[in-house]
Amino acid sequence: MKVGFGGDGERELGRSPLVGLLLATDATRPRSIPAALRTAAQLPIDAKDFTGRELETALAYDGKRRVLLVGLGDPKKVTPETLRRAAAAVVRRARQMRIDRCAVVVAPGSVEPADAGRSIGEGLELGNYVFHGQKTDAPPARVRDVAVHFSGSPAQRRAFRAGLVQGSAVGQAQCFARDLGNQPANVATPRYLVAQARKVARGGRVKLKVVATAELRRRGFGGVLGVARGSAEPAFFLELEWRPKRSRRSICLIGKGITFDTGGISLKPPQGMEEMKFDMCGAAAVLATFHAIVALQPRVHVWGLVPCAENMPGGRAIKPGDVLKTYGGQTVEVTNTDAEGRLVLADALGRAQELAPDFAVDLATLTGACVVALGHRASGLFCNHAELTDKLRRAGDEAGERLWPLPLWDDYVEEMRSTVADLKNSGTRYGGAATAAAFLRKFAGELAWAHLDIAGTAWDTPRNELYEGGATGVGVRMLVRLLESLE
Ligand code: BES
Ligand code: MN
Ligand code: ZN
Repeated sequence: MKVGFGGDGERELGRSPLVGLLLATDATRPRSIPAALRTAAQLPIDAKDFTGRELETALAYDGKRRVLLVGLGDPKKVTPETLRRAAAAVVRRARQMRIDRCAVVVAPGSVEPADAGRSIGEGLELGNYVFHGQKTDAPPARVRDVAVHFSGSPAQRRAFRAGLVQGSAVGQAQCFARDLGNQPANVATPRYLVAQARKVARGGRVKLKVVATAELRRRGFGGVLGVARGSAEPAFFLELEWRPKRSRRSICLIGKGITFDTGGISLKPPQGMEEMKFDMCGAAAVLATFHAIVALQPRVHVWGLVPCAENMPGGRAIKPGDVLKTYGGQTVEVTNTDAEGRLVLADALGRAQELAPDFAVDLATLTGACVVALGHRASGLFCNHAELTDKLRRAGDEAGERLWPLPLWDDYVEEMRSTVADLKNSGTRYGGAATAAAFLRKFAGELAWAHLDIAGTAWDTPRNELYEGGATGVGVRMLVRLLESLE
């Protein structure tokens, strides 16, 4: 989708078949509405069909065009999330009406112009997202062109415009993550993730190293290799690197890339197993963040580590009781082959320690227990570093991707002790998100590190203007904000 900045010029509005007019409750007085739209907007406002309540909509016609009024609520309480959703509502309505060109009109308010532009750019892209998959009917209508009009001082308009361009890039990156998550596992194999990483790195700005089986063996990536043993699909370990000329800090992003999780020999029940194609959404978030990095070029040194494997119960699969040696040298007794995410992450954390970044963050659809704890409204946040915790929570709030802290106490690791290896990979049923995090902590060493359990937020979250089912692409908006906070 082409997202353009139309300035505050009212003339161009005349040509749009649909104009989305975003209005807070105080702006419903006629004088604050652009003259070209006043006649159309008048009727729903006078009739009190539209009062500006948050995300309330009313459609009006004035012969030449349609005007979709979208409420922003209390003018003092408008948030970036409201703007994001309001922008998405306009694009969605356009799609429903099979209109491929629209405009959005918004005035300065309680959200800083740069943040407002950012949110609107994100919302437009997300509202335009559809996954058509392998359906053989005609793909649904999409919007191709949006002009966004923002009144305000020249400085405000400049800030808004810059935000809009960034937001559109971030939104596109998040849609890329959604595509990766939505593809079925017979398409999105480890090999496919390699191909997608190559695409991201194609321009040459991002360096990519693909570590394949022989090198994984030579270098002792026992976790990744162990998980992949039961599958006909070979495993890969991806290393991406963005190194700008100037940077103050470095960060390593790690994403769980299990392209399908059957549970392995500790086989999952069939009910809902098809969902486990989403078990690479951590990987999708990291790859998509690099997609955004190419566009935004943040001044921070970023590594991406993505272990990719399929967890299958083949004849050569690891068995309960098997012991694996992870990349950093620690040994793990596999008491449950379905606790495979932590095995591949153990290798990645070992590798991250060698890179010695200022911060490391892993994202993983790691435990059903985290879904039980937090539902679909927040990702679990486990962190051993106060500054990183703060930065992550702030980034999550700004991006509308909430993180909620869960404990990383040492006590939890007690039940992960093994009699034959350094650790075992599963404990009891209770506190499963925390014991998984405690396990990972043993592989993070002295890193300033955070683990984000996105099992509840990566898919099937409550529907709204931004999201209509399937993969959410969670993590991308938040990670981009986090990178910016490190510039
Ligand atoms: N990918 C799953 C986690 C998961 C489960 C995500 C349900 C979303 C919904 C992970 O690999 C897994 O199977 N975890 C086990 C761990 C257990 C065996 C210790 C779990 O959560 O049951
Ligand atoms: Mn599993
Ligand atoms: Zn899994």
